[in-house]
Amino acid sequence: MIEQSDNLWLRKIAENPGHSRWYIDRFREMAARGDDLGGEARMIDAMVPRGARILDAGCGTGRVGGRVAASGHTVVGVDLDPELIAEARAEFPGVRWEVGDLAELSLGERFDVVVCAGNVMTFAAPSSREVILRRFREHLAEGGRAVVGFGEGRGYEFDQFLKDAAVAGLEPDLLLGTWDLRPFTPGADFLVAVLRAA
Ligand SMILES: C[S@@+](CC[C@H](N)C(=O)[O-])C[C@H]1O[C@@H](n2cnc3c(N)ncnc32)[C@H](O)[C@@H]1O
Repeated sequence: MIEQSDNLWLRKIAENPGHSRWYIDRFREMAARGDDLGGEARMIDAMVPRGARILDAGCGTGRVGGRVAASGHTVVGVDLDPELIAEARAEFPGVRWEVGDLAELSLGERFDVVVCAGNVMTFAAPSSREVILRRFREHLAEGGRAVVGFGEGRGYEFDQFLKDAAVAGLEPDLLLGTWDLRPFTPGADFLVAVLRAA
């Protein structure tokens, strides 16, 4: 059974109702400073033909999907935090942003890339992770790929993630250590897994 009380993001909101606002403001400040917030979007754009279909899974404020959409792709973003979805709708109008739980994802359409950036998988309840990966698999178009990035030390071992992905019907196409295409090496502290249907 999926225990949503084990979702780390929801727990943070329960502990601090201002958490989502703080997160939105933090990224607004980084954007205002001119920080590079587009690395993930550039990688996804490089992976697909023009006018591709992209699912931003755990899209938050639309940071990744909004930029991918600006490159001419059709993007759907899903996140369980309504406050972040409201921000995504305001910042990137014209993109479809939906409130929803990735464990229950059932959009009735398939995507060339499912991108899951920003440690989303480590916030998801541990009991939901394999189900979420299965949902990603179900939403892949023929030849599509799921790209999942997260850091170590956040309660989800890379080995366990790859085992869960295999059970969910996803196998590695390419394992990277960064979004700017550095290789994943033993001892890497970040994983960007490009996965295809097994
Ligand atoms: C650190 S934010 C990253 C947001 C965005 N991917 C980015 O990189 O800018 C983590 C996000 O994961 C979302 N999340 C965690 N568990 C989720 C779930 N089960 N379903 C949908 N979204 C989830 C949270 O709501 C939050 O927006």
